[in-house]
Amino acid sequence: MSTTTPENLLINIKVKDRDGQSHDIEARPGDSLMEALRDYHWGVAAVCGGMCSCATCHVFIAEEWRSAFPQRDVDEEDLVDMLEFEAPNSRLSCQLRLADRHDGLELELAPEE
Ligand code: FES
Repeated sequence: MSTTTPENLLINIKVKDRDGQSHDIEARPGDSLMEALRDYHWGVAAVCGGMCSCATCHVFIAEEWRSAFPQRDVDEEDLVDMLEFEAPNSRLSCQLRLADRHDGLELELAPEE
């Protein structure tokens, strides 16, 4: 019989902030990546609350993790295309749903624009 507790269900994510500092955080599968990042003082502003309209949740996903998420949809693609710091691994973290398979995810916060 499983003895899984809620603590066991968290996944670990490594985040490099805009000052180059590394942070190991925990997140709940089912939450968006933005939700995991917005509560930290160094985290994302997420001004639009996840409506894919502000891009203040912009992150760079580590190359080896890019394929762990579905590709950008049209709305995300349009917004990312307008960013000064857009890169091939740019993602809007509000559009990324976390799952168990993302344990160990690594990413970097994009510069503020
Ligand atoms: S929170 Fe605004 S686009 Fe992601």
